[in-house]
Amino acid sequence: MKVILFGATGMVGQGVLRECLLDSAIEAVLAVGRSPTGERQPKLREIQHEDFTDYSDIEPQLTGYDACFFCLGVSSIGMDEERYRHLTYDITLAAANTLSRLNSQMVFVYVTGRGTDSTEQGALMWARVKGKTENDLLKLPFKAAYMFRPAGIQPLHGIRSKTAWVQAIYVGAAPLLSLLNRVAPKYMTTTEQVGRAMIKVAREGYPRPVLESEDINYL
Ligand SMILES: NC(=O)c1ccc[n+]([C@@H]2O[C@H](COP(=O)([O-])OP(=O)(O)OC[C@H]3O[C@@H](n4cnc5c(N)ncnc54)[C@H](OP(=O)(O)O)[C@@H]3O)[C@@H](O)[C@H]2O)c1
Repeated sequence: MKVILFGATGMVGQGVLRECLLDSAIEAVLAVGRSPTGERQPKLREIQHEDFTDYSDIEPQLTGYDACFFCLGVSSIGMDEERYRHLTYDITLAAANTLSRLNSQMVFVYVTGRGTDSTEQGALMWARVKGKTENDLLKLPFKAAYMFRPAGIQPLHGIRSKTAWVQAIYVGAAPLLSLLNRVAPKYMTTTEQVGRAMIKVAREGYPRPVLESEDINYL
């Protein structure tokens, strides 16, 4: 399986990258990002890209892939709706439109979050924007698309969040989060479980297009 990974420098993306590099069934990983991952591995190739709404200059390098794991995303905290929509909806759909056109057999996996609003009408801004993003991704002509909606994600194996307050919470609450992961899989998963689940759905599929934390942990 050949995989394109967006957001490989983030907390979720680092976890997904780690699992992809460890999985012998994945022969190549292309990380598309604005900054380097710092990883050196024969099966990893990186493209440093600037405009995440336009991929025309790198299109030839984005063909021939089986899966895309889209882990690029931002927190809505302190952001107005227009900016959050741009960074969430516009960037994701620009990449997905390009990839679905270039790779008709691709499986696309997108990370949203628990509470994403599929009606696009609810009171929470971030949930509406993520809901619209999910809904429009599911209309694209991919072989299949899966929406991952984790609640909390515990970073393992030295992985760090790019967002300082998220990192502080995960460090401070690490023992509690490990416990939660065992006793309340509805509310907590790990970067390792997210990465492994993405690889599994890309390879084998899943009965539903939207996966909550319990589905991710079950996989
Ligand atoms: N962390 C959690 O506990 C959690 C839980 C549920 C859902 N999620 C969702 O998972 C997704 C990823 O979260 P995360 O915790 O991994 O975030 P993160 O650690 O802050 O990483 C964000 C990633 O997105 C990239 N990125 C952000 N803005 C960008 C832009 N304007 N252009 C290009 N790349 C950009 C970053 O690249 P740079 O390295 O270049 O900044 C980085 O690779 C988000 O959608 C989030 O809502 C996270």
